[in-house]
Amino acid sequence: MLDSETSASSPAILVEGLYKTYPGKIEAVRGVDLSVADGEMLAIMGKSGSGKSTLLNLIGTLDRPDKGRIKIHGQDTSSISNLARFRREEIGFVFQLHYLLPHLSLLENVALPIQGKPDAQMLATEALEQVGLGHRIRHVPTKVSGGERQRAAIARAIVNRPRVLLADEPTGNVDSEIESTLLDLFQALQSELGMTLIVVTHEPTVAERANRIVHYKDGKIEEIAPNPENAVLKDVK
Ligand SMILES: Nc1ncnc2c1ncn2[C@@H]1O[C@H](COP(=O)(O)OP(=O)(O)O)[C@@H](O)[C@H]1O
Ligand SMILES: [Mg+2]
Repeated sequence: MLDSETSASSPAILVEGLYKTYPGKIEAVRGVDLSVADGEMLAIMGKSGSGKSTLLNLIGTLDRPDKGRIKIHGQDTSSISNLARFRREEIGFVFQLHYLLPHLSLLENVALPIQGKPDAQMLATEALEQVGLGHRIRHVPTKVSGGERQRAAIARAIVNRPRVLLADEPTGNVDSEIESTLLDLFQALQSELGMTLIVVTHEPTVAERANRIVHYKDGKIEEIAPNPENAVLKDVK
């Protein structure tokens, strides 16, 4: 059930007073507050080891914070009983590595998260068409290019039509030409499907596409900078 604060005007993602320490006193997240507007693209930049993946995993409910609160579309994630289902329905994940299963076709890979649904095949085909892979659905991952594999991973992430997409260095493993097509795709997901995106990245070229850029350092947000080149969501605070 959605709680009473849920409304069209609540941010897509609200993070309050978030902390996460790993064994060995590794303070990966040390007091993060963040609000991401519905339909916004946010980039998170920072050095390796600064805690970006930990923060993204906490937001995506893949991991639990020691302290603090995460709300997704107004819903407090700490009170969700079936987190696996919540994630499947609300959040798409894209990682640096595609994690496609090598023996399955792209279609079968993309249909995996919605296995058992009567229209799984159709939805998976649609998602693959959406990422420009309508002509490759029967291929196995080894028979397509690196960029196509990453696009298939994006198709798998969006097959369930989540409103939020979390991407952890999604272009870390591809060359700049492919990077640019992946970025076009992210922007299309934002503008055409109205998705909210958080993209962790090292690449300034990736961050340039975002509406705001979070500079992250030692487990904290150092600065949140509106992107003057792409400030379509000017009223976002
Ligand atoms: N599961 C874990 N157990 C223990 N330490 C971890 C774990 N995951 C990450 N860390 C440590 O937490 C810190 C932040 O890691 P991470 O969130 O992966 O940073 P980033 O994504 O910015 O490179 C690092 O020091 C890393 O070694
Ligand atoms: Mg990381």
